Amino acid sequence: RRSWAMGLSDRLAVAASRPRHAAPCAATVLGEPLPASEDHGLVYPSADFSAQALVSSPQQYQEMYQRSIDDPAEFWSEIAETFYWKQKWNPDEVCTENLDVTKGPIKIEWFKGGKTNVCYNAVDRNVEAGDSEKIAMYWEGNEPDQDGKLTYSELLDKVCQLANYLKSVGVGKGDAVVIYLPMLMELPIAMLACARIGAVHSVVFAGFSADAIAQRIIDCKPKVVITCNGVKRGLKLIPLKDIVDASLVESAKNGVTVDICLTYENQLAMKKEDTQWTTGRDVWWQDIVPDFHTRCDVEWVDAEDPLFLLYTSGSTGKPKGVLHTTGGYMVYSATTFKHAFDYKPTDIYWCTADCGWITGHSYVTYGPLLNGATVLVYEGAPNYPDPGRCWDIVDKYGVTIFYTAPTLVRSLMRDGSEYVNRYSRKSLRVLGSVGEPINPTAWRWFYNVVGDSRCPISDTWWQTETGGFMITPLPGAWPQKPGSATFPFFGVKPVIVDEKGRELDGECNGYLCIKKSWPGAFRTLYGDKDRYETTYFKPFSGYYFSGDGCRRDKDGYHWLTGRVDDVINVSGHRIGTAEVESALVSHPKCAEAAVVGIDHEVKGQGIYAFVTLVDGVPYSDDLRKSLIMAVRSQIGAFAAPDKIHWAPGLPKTRSGKIMRRILRKIASRQLDELGDTSTLADPGVVDQLISLSDS
Ligand code: WTA
Repeated sequence: RRSWAMGLSDRLAVAASRPRHAAPCAATVLGEPLPASEDHGLVYPSADFSAQALVSSPQQYQEMYQRSIDDPAEFWSEIAETFYWKQKWNPDEVCTENLDVTKGPIKIEWFKGGKTNVCYNAVDRNVEAGDSEKIAMYWEGNEPDQDGKLTYSELLDKVCQLANYLKSVGVGKGDAVVIYLPMLMELPIAMLACARIGAVHSVVFAGFSADAIAQRIIDCKPKVVITCNGVKRGLKLIPLKDIVDASLVESAKNGVTVDICLTYENQLAMKKEDTQWTTGRDVWWQDIVPDFHTRCDVEWVDAEDPLFLLYTSGSTGKPKGVLHTTGGYMVYSATTFKHAFDYKPTDIYWCTADCGWITGHSYVTYGPLLNGATVLVYEGAPNYPDPGRCWDIVDKYGVTIFYTAPTLVRSLMRDGSEYVNRYSRKSLRVLGSVGEPINPTAWRWFYNVVGDSRCPISDTWWQTETGGFMITPLPGAWPQKPGSATFPFFGVKPVIVDEKGRELDGECNGYLCIKKSWPGAFRTLYGDKDRYETTYFKPFSGYYFSGDGCRRDKDGYHWLTGRVDDVINVSGHRIGTAEVESALVSHPKCAEAAVVGIDHEVKGQGIYAFVTLVDGVPYSDDLRKSLIMAVRSQIGAFAAPDKIHWAPGLPKTRSGKIMRRILRKIASRQLDELGDTSTLADPGVVDQLISLSDS
């Protein structure tokens, strides 16, 4: 009946049974030694840590949490007042919401009537508060001897110059700007410059292909695209400008032309002379931006005016433009940052995420700078020139808070602890994890080896759509369980529901939904309100549906079990199976494709593609490669399938629906668990597929 419900319960069972999410029965986990601080699966923060923490006990959390739930308007108003507002919000409109489609259109508004500016709060306000000489950003380049830094006042100058340039070419309030940059300081600078003038940035991760950029450009029609000529990741040079050029050709074919391509010369990677150029459209950043004035008036915008668009993958169709607005996102990203990392003004903070993803928006750029923090921006690869690079950087800058993804933890764990032990890491005090469930083994390695059994780990569960952390430890407040994201953040009411949308109590396993709005919630999908309501609010009336499965244990801890929709999480990157399938079938020799996720030791999940070829086309290794190329060129290298499985036919119901449940079992070689295949139109295809498994 409803497409999302197909096989949902089956997937929930699969997700919940994954061994990596097993109950934290510490003694049984691979027989590895327990950290000294672990007691019956609980890891306690040290007394010293808790004593200095912003929230230092479960009781204090409980009291604050209760207040945030009982009176969210008052709770969030008090916090919002610590920011600068040109004009205060209407006191009786702190939050207006309807999350119930049966009662009318979905609506979420926070701080209505308020006027503010996120750039002003993230930069000017710190300068004015006396932090003008504090380092806002350290930058570490691809090579260990490449670095740079900006104080808050230098950051303000750079942001204003770019903002003035953008204004000079006609970019104004509400205009879209696409940013396709690697992790240079210019990336957060560009985001802030847009925010300053009320323009809406849409950052596209610099690993996406030309086709993927074009798709986004066609959707949001930017006035300007900002990029750089090239970047080196490890030993590899990636000519970003060439990729943008191709995307602009593609967009123009679809009727969307972009007048200006502002290009930063990333001198350490690539010379000007080697860059392709379209005179009239292309402009070198260094030739023009520094000529602009270092002061630029702030555009005061409504709390509900858009701040940015960020495209993310869904279970069907094209990527979704997740829209975040100004006031609520500002308050929420800043507050979650402060509490989940127990932020102190002396901290040196490093988040390894790229600004092309939501983590880089909320926790490289906005959240930390809104707190006046010192942020490290790293351009290179985490294992270049060797797997000790991260800890080299930690020691070089005295990093105190290190926030990363389980996939990196697992890959460094595999490289061996000796790379970690070479470095002191004494500065570290809080660790963080995001992007996918962290398996207890990786958690313990991160905790014991990287953090010397001293640093609490904030395993933060959240999504592009949520804007900020939803379920997360507050590191000084309570004992942790390796692999659990613990408890909800202030103001967040998670509920776990069954298929019918009934809330489950106590120990339970089901679909994770959120019951009330929170300030950081996305407000719509750009240009597609219907899809917004259908995807997130129709599955379970009255709730926001996350797409994730979740188990709550007897102590109330939350254990995320993974996506229950057709989204695969590869190295913490969200990839829609439908997108990969559509890239595969665009290949002239591919008749049909079905993609499923499989467990992957390092990446969390890998991409497994069943491919049916056009009649008469023989299987070959070259064809396999060219199919993978199709995905690389339409989405990006990070979405390339790990395995192509030739399929003479796909298992379908009589009504023609592909039975992914069976494909998932074949992909993971759980052949004795295929279940009932009698409803298939042609049960014989299953045997054919199995016999081709190892080809
Ligand atoms: C997954 C990334 C378990 C989850 C911030 C979610 C997690 C999706 C965690 C969102 C975590 C993220 N534990 N799973 N700590 N963090 N996820 O939009 O499946 O790129 O739905 O946002 O990542 O991915 P997105």
